Amino acid sequence: MEKLLIDGGCVLEGEIRVSGAKNAVLPILAATLLADGPMQIANVPHLQDVTTTMELLGRMGVSLTLDEHMNIEVNSGPIKELFAPYEVVKTMRASILVLGPLLARFGEAEVSLPGGCAIGSRPVNLHLHGLEAMGAEIEVRGGYIHAKSKRLKGARLVMDNVTVTGTENLMMAATLAVGTTVIENAAREPEVTDLANCLIKMGAKIEGAGTGKITIQGVDRLHGCQYSVLTDRIETGTFLVATAITGGHVRLKNAQPKFLESILMKLKEAGAKVHCDENWVEIDMCRRRPKSINVCTAPYPAFPTDMQAQFTALNCIAEGSGTITESVFENRFMHIQEMQRMGAKIKVTGNTAITTGVDKLVAAPVMATDLRASASLILAGLIADGQTVVDRIYHIDRGYECIEEKLMQLGASIRRVPH
Ligand code: EPZ
Repeated sequence: MEKLLIDGGCVLEGEIRVSGAKNAVLPILAATLLADGPMQIANVPHLQDVTTTMELLGRMGVSLTLDEHMNIEVNSGPIKELFAPYEVVKTMRASILVLGPLLARFGEAEVSLPGGCAIGSRPVNLHLHGLEAMGAEIEVRGGYIHAKSKRLKGARLVMDNVTVTGTENLMMAATLAVGTTVIENAAREPEVTDLANCLIKMGAKIEGAGTGKITIQGVDRLHGCQYSVLTDRIETGTFLVATAITGGHVRLKNAQPKFLESILMKLKEAGAKVHCDENWVEIDMCRRRPKSINVCTAPYPAFPTDMQAQFTALNCIAEGSGTITESVFENRFMHIQEMQRMGAKIKVTGNTAITTGVDKLVAAPVMATDLRASASLILAGLIADGQTVVDRIYHIDRGYECIEEKLMQLGASIRRVPH
C-alpha cells in the first residue's frame, strides 16, 4: 500500500488552483441517468470516487468518455442494467445516489445497501422512506435495495434528519414524478444547490435549493446539457488550514469564498489575515502561531463536519486550548489517537475533544482511517519534527486531487512511496 512521507518544518507559500467539488460531481454524474440525451460535465476533479462512479455507470451500460482536460461526456442511452453491485457500493457509499434517478427514469433499481463506514453507521432509511412516500415499492433483501415504481408521485417529505445525499436522491427522483414534491428540512449545502442548478439546465422545475424547503414540479422528461461543477470548498478549506498551521501565506485560485463563511470566520479567530474576491481567497499568517479555536459541526451554513479533523490538527499546535464538538457523525475522531501518537494533547469526552496546544508535534508513523482524517494527518506532518509516514493513503486519493503535488508547489517536502 502506498504511503506519504512528509518532512516537517515547512512554511507554505505561493498559489495553487483548487479543483471541482467531489460532493457535487458525484450526484451530478448520477443525475445523468435522468437525461434522455448526452451530457458534458466540466471541472471534474481527478479522484478515485469519480473513477468509481464512472465504473458504476459504465457497468450499467452508460457510455462515458473523458478528455484530457477531465471533461466527461455521459450518455445513458445505451443503459442495459439497473443494478449497483456490492463490490462497487462498498468502496463508495455515494453510489446510493443512483437509486433515485434509476427509479424515476426506468421504474426500477437494484442497489446494494452501502455497508458500514469508519465515521459512523450512516443509514439510508430517510432515502428509502422518501421514495416509498412517492409511491415506490421498496424491499431490502440479501443486502440489496429492490425498488420498483410505475411512475413516482409528488409528495410532501419532511426529513427527520438533515441529510445531504438523502435530499439529493429525493430531489432527483422528484424531477420526473407526477405532480409536486416538497422536501422540508432539506440539506442546504452548496453541492445540493449545484446539483439543482444542473437539473434545472436539464429541464427540471426546482425552487428553493439552498434553503430548507425545496419544491420540485415533476416533468415528463429531462434532456442533456453542459454543466461545469462548482469548486471544492472542503479542498479549499483544507489548504487554508494547512497554511494557517505552518504560519504561511497562500492564495487559492478558482475558489468560491462565498461558500466558506464559517471556515473563514474560524481562521480569522485563529489570527489569520484573510482577503478574498469572487474567485480567489488568500490567507496570511505572517509566520505567527495560530490561536486555538472552538468549533461545533452542524449542517450548512454552520461549521462543516468535513473540516473538523483539519481544525483539530490546527488546535494541536495552536496557542491555548480549544473544544471541537462533532455533532453530525458518531465516530469521526479516529484521527485523534494518531495525533496523540505525535505528541498532541487531546482529551475526548463523548463527542467533544478538548485540545491543549503544544509547541511542537513529533513525527511518527500514522494511519489514515477516512478521507478527512487522512488530510488532517498530512497537515500535522507538515509541522511535526522529523518525517511523518502516513499509511493507507488510498483514503486521501478518494477526495483530494494530486494533494502532494499541490503541497509541493507551496513548498512542502512531501512524497509518495510505493509501500
Ligand atoms: C454527505 O454525506 C457527504 N458526502 C459527506 O462527505 C459529508 O460529511 C456529509 O454529507 C455531511 O455533510 C457526499 O456528499 C457524497 P448525511 P451523507 O446523509 O449525505 C444521518 C466527505 O468527507 N442520516 O448528510 O452520506 C447520518 O447518519 C464525506 O466528503 C440518517 O439518519 O451524509 C448522519 O448522522 C464524508 N438517515 C447525518 O444524517 C439517512 O437516511 C448526516 O448524514 C441519511 C442520513
